Amino acid sequence: MKTAIYPGSFDPVTYGHLDIIERSAKLAEVLYVGILRNNSKKPLFSVEERIEMLEHETAHLPNVKVITFDGLLVDFARSVNAQVLVRGLRAVTDFEYELQMSQTNRKIAPEVDTIFLTTNLKYAYLSSSIVKEVAFYQGDISAFVPPYVAEKIHQKMG
Ligand code: COA
Repeated sequence: MKTAIYPGSFDPVTYGHLDIIERSAKLAEVLYVGILRNNSKKPLFSVEERIEMLEHETAHLPNVKVITFDGLLVDFARSVNAQVLVRGLRAVTDFEYELQMSQTNRKIAPEVDTIFLTTNLKYAYLSSSIVKEVAFYQGDISAFVPPYVAEKIHQKMG
């Protein structure tokens, strides 16, 4: 596995994402963490803020590069010569959507394959929205995101 992409919204990055990033960084020569710009979701953090948090949390991984993309994921993969897309599977509920996405991507770009890593069970329930919701009601988010990210969330929510 030479060049791989781990795409997503990362609004914000959680321990669940970082688990997938650390494990796929061991499998790939270069791993691009791709933040989707043209997302239909209304984000809490700007793309620049998300890049900054991801760079901070992956600074110890020399083969990981944080980058943004617009448009189709497979076009992004082609533009950086990536052969592999990495996705995390948290539970059965992720499967149907991921299967459809990987099959569509493969149809459009047969040279790009998707691999799935099962999320560490510790983080199987996590999502960025859940973290934001707990933080919004002043709950403890220290088990979900690194301290630096938690601080940014608290700042953002006042
Ligand atoms: N740990 C914790 N949370 C995780 C996780 C993990 N391992 N894996 C996913 N999640 C969460 C995310 O935080 C996110 O939570 P949220 O909905 O509360 O924000 C949710 O699961 C799904 O998000 P994500 O993995 O970021 O995917 P996405 O659905 O936002 O984006 C893209 C997926 C970017 C890969 C996809 O939309 C895409 O490729 N878009 C480009 C357009 C395109 O090519 N479309 C055709 C595809 S067939």
